[in-house]
Amino acid sequence: MEEKPEQLSNGTELKRALGAVAVTGASSGIGEAVATALSRAGVTVIGLDRDPPNRPPPGGTSMALDVTDEAEVELTIAAAEARFGPIGGLVNAAGILGKVHPPERLRLTDWQREINVDLTGTYIVSRAVGVRMAQRASGAIVNVASIAGMTSAPTHAYSAAKAGVISLTRSLARAWGRQGVRVNAVSPGFTRTPALDKGVSAGVLNASAMAEATALGRLLDASEIADAVVWLLGPGSRGVTGVNLPVDGGFLAGVTWPAYAAPA
Ligand code: NAI
Repeated sequence: MEEKPEQLSNGTELKRALGAVAVTGASSGIGEAVATALSRAGVTVIGLDRDPPNRPPPGGTSMALDVTDEAEVELTIAAAEARFGPIGGLVNAAGILGKVHPPERLRLTDWQREINVDLTGTYIVSRAVGVRMAQRASGAIVNVASIAGMTSAPTHAYSAAKAGVISLTRSLARAWGRQGVRVNAVSPGFTRTPALDKGVSAGVLNASAMAEATALGRLLDASEIADAVVWLLGPGSRGVTGVNLPVDGGFLAGVTWPAYAAPA
């Protein structure tokens, strides 16, 4: 007997809608959490990372890829599709957190590195995969931006790169929308990942101040970002494109509160 749509599990719907999903930055943090959530849902995951993990996602694969290398990206995406079939979903989670400097001490090499990985890398991979999706008239892309791209922070290059990712999300959504490709972003707040933990250990980030700044009063877990990403990839969000969804534990909701003598 054929399953009715309401009887299908979320995972089955996702698998049918997307086929294979490519996840950049899949070896660590948010990208790893996305790859894990998709694998658990039965989706074939192609993990792409500068440093591939020792263990590929179950039922999927991992491939070494530097998202800033245009030629390598083209070859790797073609090779991945030859092996796993059409890529119906892409998550751009590869990224580096920004260095904190006063503007006059920010070296141009650091500026260029952060813009190159976080913004240009997102563009290069989106273009390689999105063009193929548009030709097939189906696909969903989710970019990992940041609340740093929506507010201000002493991470001048990183924040500009993330604001660029939010803008790019809208322009690609309009460019490919009539060809059945949706492009959305999530903007995580402070999320427990190896990159964030490194910043805390180095004394650049203050864990209790970050938690205190949110409405929920805590840092986020990478799985909470992954859940939002999976929703934006799947059929449940089929009418949504060009949006930037903050997944920030209410950081943005509380931004003005420290300015008031408000009740605790
Ligand atoms: P992470 O360092 O734990 O993971 C990032 C992954 O990206 C690593 O596996 C790394 O090897 C890979 N990567 C870096 N450069 C690459 C390149 N050129 N080519 C291919 N892979 C590359 O970091 P995390 O925290 O998971 O960050 C993931 C994304 O989420 C980044 O874009 C970051 O800006 C964003 N984000 C993170 C937040 C946080 O609080 N952790 C908050 C807001 C945004």
